[in-house]
Amino acid sequence: MSLADHNNPREALIQVKDLHISFGERKRRFEAVRGVSFDIFKGETFGLVGESGSGKTSIGRAIIRVYETSGGEVLYGGQRISGKIDKDLDRRVTREIQMIFQDPMASLNERAKVDYIVAEGLYSTEKNLTRLQRQARVHEALMDVGLLPEFAARFPHEFSGGQRQRIGIARALVMNPKFIIADEPISALDVSIRAQVLNLMSKLQRERGLTYLFISHDLSVMRFICDRIAVIHRGLLVELASTEQLFRFPLHPYTQALLSAVPLPNPAYERKKRPLIYDERIHHYENNEPTWRELQPGHFVLANDEEARGYEDRIGAVKAAQG
Ligand SMILES: Nc1ncnc2c1ncn2[C@@H]1O[C@H](COP(=O)(O)OP(=O)(O)O)[C@@H](O)[C@H]1O
Ligand SMILES: [Mg+2]
Repeated sequence: MSLADHNNPREALIQVKDLHISFGERKRRFEAVRGVSFDIFKGETFGLVGESGSGKTSIGRAIIRVYETSGGEVLYGGQRISGKIDKDLDRRVTREIQMIFQDPMASLNERAKVDYIVAEGLYSTEKNLTRLQRQARVHEALMDVGLLPEFAARFPHEFSGGQRQRIGIARALVMNPKFIIADEPISALDVSIRAQVLNLMSKLQRERGLTYLFISHDLSVMRFICDRIAVIHRGLLVELASTEQLFRFPLHPYTQALLSAVPLPNPAYERKKRPLIYDERIHHYENNEPTWRELQPGHFVLANDEEARGYEDRIGAVKAAQG
């Protein structure tokens, strides 16, 4: 969404370092996220893409401190926010990092009025607000997402899916966040209103300098809104690059498989296209485990030495062909 100035060194708002997340106890313990590292720069939209069950939501929840990490750490503005943190930092993070969810119907309390739904976060973080001040904040947030202040007195079921997602966004905005995790924010919406919600998010980002983590299973949506994209497969990042670089030079076979499923604008190509299937059994790694490495500036891939050499040759060949 935001076009960053590539001449300036970029400031990381979020740093995820060797993050591990496990579920279950003892023998049934299962590592859903297995050593994931990435930075999210101030003002950018960072995409996290992968199929269902790959660990995307778990990463989002670990950043927002809903899930415990079992290894590694998360930094926000250079300060560690994973694990035990002091009260002041906790309060700050609770305010400044907000989440927007996939299914607005499920994530909004159906028995509460919009008024309460939008204001909820303020009760714990800004206890000194008077009722009138709180109401003013709610009205402002509703107008920011294109809803009428009068809607505050209604219930969620009185709204359409798109309007409910706007309520979900207002609920985040009322906190004056700096960083928003949007977990499949348009996946449950009618195709016809998806663009409206994306445009709203984009506008809010421009106006407020927001930073987004945009989680989705759908690369075709991410192409238009993400500055950079990380690809996750079974709890491991396999590739990370600028959106342009990822679409032009996808290196990892899993990325290529995902891309092969993205519809092309040209119907003639679309008919000829064969979807690729990624079979991880082809990759066996005895004594030569893949590691996370930066092959080109800003282009990371999970590869062992042999694979990395192959990828470098491919990049070299493409560059040579382009003169
Ligand atoms: N609270 C939880 N308890 C147990 N397992 C979980 C929990 N949350 C997620 N998982 C498991 O972790 C894996 C990753 O899930 P998730 O992060 O929701 O993936 P995604 O968002 O990419 O679909 C899945 O196998 C899921 O079943
Ligand atoms: Mg999910």
